[in-house]
Amino acid sequence: MLICHCNIIQEKEIEAAIIALLDADPWQLIVPAKVYHSLGRRGRCCGCFPNVVEIIIRVTEEYHRRSRIDGDEIFPFLDRVRGLRGHYGSRKHEGRNPDHRAA
Ligand code: FES
Repeated sequence: MLICHCNIIQEKEIEAAIIALLDADPWQLIVPAKVYHSLGRRGRCCGCFPNVVEIIIRVTEEYHRRSRIDGDEIFPFLDRVRGLRGHYGSRKHEGRNPDHRAA
């Protein structure tokens, strides 16, 4: 699925970049700009960033679930990140049609 229309980046490319970053350091903070930098690109309109954040959370959960490194600690933290996104309204203010979201 095409996630970033400005840079023509597929979901699979983003997932691979996140896994490469996690392989380098499983506990680093991964943000959309870091993922795009690793792909040699950068955000333009940044309208895709909320979807990229959802992909980062999903891939990070799966990565740590597979590695089983302190899995009990990472999942409640990621649930809190999701809760903060809903609380602060990033889902409401991205300026896109709701059916445009992949996540
Ligand atoms: S859609 Fe990704 S930077 Fe514009």
